[in-house]
Amino acid sequence: MQKASNHILIIFGASGDLTRRKLIPALRELQKLDLLPEKFAVLGIGRSKYSDQTYREMIAEHLEEPGEMLPLLHYLSMDPEDEGSYDNLASQLDEMSSSMEMVPNYIFYLATPPSLYGIIPLFLSSVGLTKEGEDVWRRIIIEKPFGTDYQSAHQLNKSLLKYLKEDQIYRIDHYLGKETVQNVLVTRFSNGIFEPLWNRNFVHHVEITAAESIGVGTRGGYYNDSGALRDMLQNHLMQLVGLVAMEPPTVINSDAIRNEVLKVFQSIRPITGDDIPKQVIRGQYVASHIRGDSMTGYRDEEGVPEESRTETFVAMKFFIDNWRWGGVPFYIRTGKRLPTRVSEIVVHFNPSPHTLFSTSNGDEDKGNKLVIRIQPDEGILLKFGMKVQGAGFKVQEVNMDFHYKDLTDSYIPEAYQRLLLDCMQGDSTLYARGDAVEAAWRFVDPILKAWKEDQGIPLHGYPCGTWGPEVADQMIEGEKYAWRCPCKNLADDGIYCEL
Ligand code: BG6
Repeated sequence: MQKASNHILIIFGASGDLTRRKLIPALRELQKLDLLPEKFAVLGIGRSKYSDQTYREMIAEHLEEPGEMLPLLHYLSMDPEDEGSYDNLASQLDEMSSSMEMVPNYIFYLATPPSLYGIIPLFLSSVGLTKEGEDVWRRIIIEKPFGTDYQSAHQLNKSLLKYLKEDQIYRIDHYLGKETVQNVLVTRFSNGIFEPLWNRNFVHHVEITAAESIGVGTRGGYYNDSGALRDMLQNHLMQLVGLVAMEPPTVINSDAIRNEVLKVFQSIRPITGDDIPKQVIRGQYVASHIRGDSMTGYRDEEGVPEESRTETFVAMKFFIDNWRWGGVPFYIRTGKRLPTRVSEIVVHFNPSPHTLFSTSNGDEDKGNKLVIRIQPDEGILLKFGMKVQGAGFKVQEVNMDFHYKDLTDSYIPEAYQRLLLDCMQGDSTLYARGDAVEAAWRFVDPILKAWKEDQGIPLHGYPCGTWGPEVADQMIEGEKYAWRCPCKNLADDGIYCEL
């Protein structure tokens, strides 16, 4: 991998959770791999009062092995909502880059509450900090959530584009930084055997799950205004759909790939009216017991109102109206307090057209499955039928299973590590483009609206440690298929499935 050119990374929200847990550790990893530029510094910005020294001490407490990282960290205490303080920021950055004898290249990372996403770029531009020169680049990374619906995302894009060019804006979706998510492209487009089958003629349906066993923890305040549809589905799951369903790009570059993802989003058949309650199931976890431990219900979590109708689970069925996917159902689901943490994509191929053999357990042949395991047991699994040894011709389903961890030089970088490095190198392939973010919101907007306005659409309670409301199972079982239970495969790892 190539090193990026010299620059300063300015993090707004420098004492926050994201910076401590993800960003600085990711930078430390890049440093260990010798991928940071020769001249590099971090300027943390926040309202809290720290000196460079006390900031470093605070970060050191959260970093397993701070090593050479700490001297690169600097801190400026300022209120990002105070326009007057940006002159001082500009002069501090000037000073830093001159004393480091480097071109003033900057990345501004907005790890702040979303209410500041419009303001900070405006104030940065008012003091000339977003202006690029012939050899000078300026980039801005914006954390999710990017808007709360189509209108707000559109407005935010519009206002950002007043001060920045699209290629200066990096909208983060950390799912795209996951190695296994990127591997979807490689699996599809570097293996001649899959692509010819990857369409309506051979695929029966596609299933995507992003399950978490944790609840909302201390994030109830944020989460309650968001819910699973906004928090996970509109961004992370939609990006997975984009990569699974896209046409092969003509070349591997940022625009070629993101054009194809956009086309997928534009081809998803909108879910509206009476189809909403049939095709979109929402649920909320309720107080219950898992293996004897009592679990708090969502409404009793810190920061969550007692009467909250925010969904912590969503399952959805939809279609992509194009030549490749016409008629193939896509099922996606995500939720908190499910039996385990697992994200996977399952491509279910059509069963053989004429049944010659019976299965060993008497089940119908349901076709081969390709399971792309995004996390935690990263890998790929192909399920196929094999003859049961001995007399007769009974078939049993067996696995061809690849685990990343079996590679001798197995190393799966953290998503933020890859994404930060890409931004440093000016590669936005793994960042969401403005038009695609808007298209994803356009798709979920009618659902959000219906849920808000029509109290008749049920919000199903589900006990912690289950796979969500039973109606979500019926949605898929209606077609003689069931959601795959990923826990069966994880049982060896000691993860127990409640079902
Ligand atoms: C975040 C969501 O974007 O993704 C969280 O806001 C969620 O609610 C998290 O827990 C899941 O990410 P990962 O990488 O742990 O699957």
